[in-house]
Amino acid sequence: MKAIVVADQAAGTAGMTLGERPRPEAAGNDVLVEVHASGFTPGELDWDTTWTDRLGRERTPSIPGHELAGIVAELGYGTRGLTVGQRVFGLADWTRDGTLAEYTVVEARNLAPLPGDVDFTVGASLPISGLTAWQGLFVHGRLDVGQSVLVHGAAGGVGSMVTQLARAAGAYVVGTGRAADRAAALDLGAHEFLDLQNDSLTEVGQVDLVFDIFGGEIQKQSVDLVRAGGALITIAGPPEARPADALAIDFVVEADRTQLTELAQRVRDGRLRTLIGTVATLDNAVAAFNPTQRPKGKTIIQVRP
Ligand SMILES: NC(=O)c1ccc[n+]([C@@H]2O[C@H](COP(=O)([O-])OP(=O)(O)OC[C@H]3O[C@@H](n4cnc5c(N)ncnc54)[C@H](OP(=O)(O)O)[C@@H]3O)[C@@H](O)[C@H]2O)c1
Repeated sequence: MKAIVVADQAAGTAGMTLGERPRPEAAGNDVLVEVHASGFTPGELDWDTTWTDRLGRERTPSIPGHELAGIVAELGYGTRGLTVGQRVFGLADWTRDGTLAEYTVVEARNLAPLPGDVDFTVGASLPISGLTAWQGLFVHGRLDVGQSVLVHGAAGGVGSMVTQLARAAGAYVVGTGRAADRAAALDLGAHEFLDLQNDSLTEVGQVDLVFDIFGGEIQKQSVDLVRAGGALITIAGPPEARPADALAIDFVVEADRTQLTELAQRVRDGRLRTLIGTVATLDNAVAAFNPTQRPKGKTIIQVRP
């Protein structure tokens, strides 16, 4: 099968090549998915899990990409809950070959049915940013109606989802980002927007929840804004600063069928949209990941256009 492979961590995205790999076999509880669309996170070539398996053994050449939408091609022994021919989407395991390939194997619990009226491209753009936003706001942050949320990078992949979901949940949303992101963040549902280059974070006042994607200085400045009893939720690794009398929680997104199903339903209802910037074929994927200028929005690879 055709796949994008990486073998040299130091080379970054420039080391991606289109090659031939054996079609993977579905083990127990696995689903072999015929991939139709795949999402790739630029940062994943820095993750150890891209280069090693669960026991820390090197597994290059590896196939990157962890988001997918496609069709169930085969079920491994004992796999339940999905059927051959069904449309699915989800999050592939971090320590196994990924989704920039004609086929991939994924544990069944990491997939959800993809409704017929949500196209594969949209399906593949949802899992990481959608689940991260959902889990940060509702599982870890326990967001309640009427609370306030400061959303960093509000026009980005994760932030755009956080902004929409928080607003829909009845929160007061303050987005941040670059000056050029203002219109997009407000359009996604932010009540206010702060340009991190020109505005001061202290203008925000106190909030119940900070959703941090940056870490570093911006995180350090943000902890003082968290109200007592509130929370700093970060996806940028272990917190470098902690708010007084409030929680500091970092987490890594996990697959969850119920949450994926809820996200897809919201897309169908028009209550949630993803920002897709570039759509390319598998043959053109390497060039799409190495643009001279990074376009806004997610890059989705249509494996079977
Ligand atoms: N822990 C987890 O489970 C998890 C899950 C998902 C993502 N992540 C991580 O979270 C981070 C964000 O992911 P993402 O997909 O949302 O990225 P993204 O799509 O690039 O969004 C980041 C947003 O922040 C803006 N931004 C970046 N630097 C800025 C700065 N200095 N000042 C103002 N705005 C700035 C970006 O603008 P430009 O595009 O103009 O730079 C973009 O709008 C990544 O590091 C990713 O690896 C972690």
